[in-house]
Amino acid sequence: MAVHTELSPVFPSGSRLDSRGHLHVGGCDTLELAREFGTPAYVVAEDDVRSRARSALAAARVCHPDLQVVFAAKAMPCTAVLRVLAEEGTWCDVASGGELHLALRAGFAPERLVLHGNAKSAAELRRALGVGVGLIVIDNDSEIDRLTELVADGALDPADAQAVLIRVTPAVSGRTHAKISTGQADSKFGFGLDQAPAAIERVRSVAGLDLQGLHAHVGSQLTELSPLRATAEALAGLGEHGVYDLGGGLGVAYTDEDRPPSIEDYVAAVADGAREHLGASRLLIEPGRALVANAGVTLYSVESVKRNVSTWVAVDGGMSDNLRPMLYGARYRAEVADRFGGSTPCRLVGKHCESGDVIVSDALLDDPRPGDVIVTPATGAYGYAMANNYNGVLRPPVILCRDGDARVVVRRETLEDLGARDVL
Ligand code: LLP
Repeated sequence: MAVHTELSPVFPSGSRLDSRGHLHVGGCDTLELAREFGTPAYVVAEDDVRSRARSALAAARVCHPDLQVVFAAKAMPCTAVLRVLAEEGTWCDVASGGELHLALRAGFAPERLVLHGNAKSAAELRRALGVGVGLIVIDNDSEIDRLTELVADGALDPADAQAVLIRVTPAVSGRTHAKISTGQADSKFGFGLDQAPAAIERVRSVAGLDLQGLHAHVGSQLTELSPLRATAEALAGLGEHGVYDLGGGLGVAYTDEDRPPSIEDYVAAVADGAREHLGASRLLIEPGRALVANAGVTLYSVESVKRNVSTWVAVDGGMSDNLRPMLYGARYRAEVADRFGGSTPCRLVGKHCESGDVIVSDALLDDPRPGDVIVTPATGAYGYAMANNYNGVLRPPVILCRDGDARVVVRRETLEDLGARDVL
């Protein structure tokens, strides 16, 4: 077995293999974590989240006098992780009343919250106006109608004005999976460039709404920065505004071949684009994945190994804890947690009743056997967020690790939880 001590950047920073070849994350032996907390389990290295947030915030300070880093909660809507980011000083982007609830619970000040959504309900808007979120990003005309009615109905303190942005579809597309591309002209999000001037005029005429600027989000898992500059250029034709929120989207490395831009280059590209085309007094960016994906790994146990045309290694989770391979054809790396560097080509699959429930179709594992602990890195974003109970599989816990201490911050689901909403 090859012995690696340096681990690739797909693993949380500070991860290492000990002298027995066991993977440690956040100072904790992953085999011990699996034994103590069971599998599957999401393991998050707290210091990794903190250091990515700090890098983003430091880059923001260098690049622009007022550039706010707004964590997109959808990537990891786990209260404890949101709390870590609130402590570090980011703002938070929430895309529903549920995320708004979690962000407030985590300790974000309401004025640091940005509410998104292409189909916000009256109840969600009423709550946002009531708590006084920092910004509501208006997506469509129906929402302007709804906000007008709510303000007239007293949902907003008459002494206040709600700061809002208008979301614009910049007709810029980033090279990413079609399902997570949002900037193209034919999009379910935002106003088209041709419709935006009328929307700006409408919003300005609504008493109680304070139009501060524009928002655009090109897409997610972007591995090139040029679309961000192009977005700033596209928005420049819509007049001068004090605030521009250029969305999130910075891609991350899922496998050792991926080479995404650094967070510093991403922040600089947004700031440069804005400086060149927009001259905003305040800029916002909304990274989600880039702050948390590589901070997390998932631990599984092998339940069965079989060989027919391929070698099928089946674990105790799958598409219920990581939908990304199935939804986007996303590629991940996998290792036996105490025998890195294997050479047996395997299909690492889940326990769900679908042939498409494949976690890694081309894993190279070291002689995998039932009982082995398998680790898949880079699962800190959009794994927990999109977890589900397909086949009655229980959702995994989230274990936050730091300096060798492991803390359950979301407990494992139980059979009782599965029936908890039944009305019999
Ligand atoms: N801001 C807005 C308005 C967004 O729609 C999104 C992502 C973000 C920020 C954060 O994007 P990020 O920095 O994380 O790329 N489930 C998919 C990702 C969907 C992203 C949707 N919007 C996945 O697993 O790849």
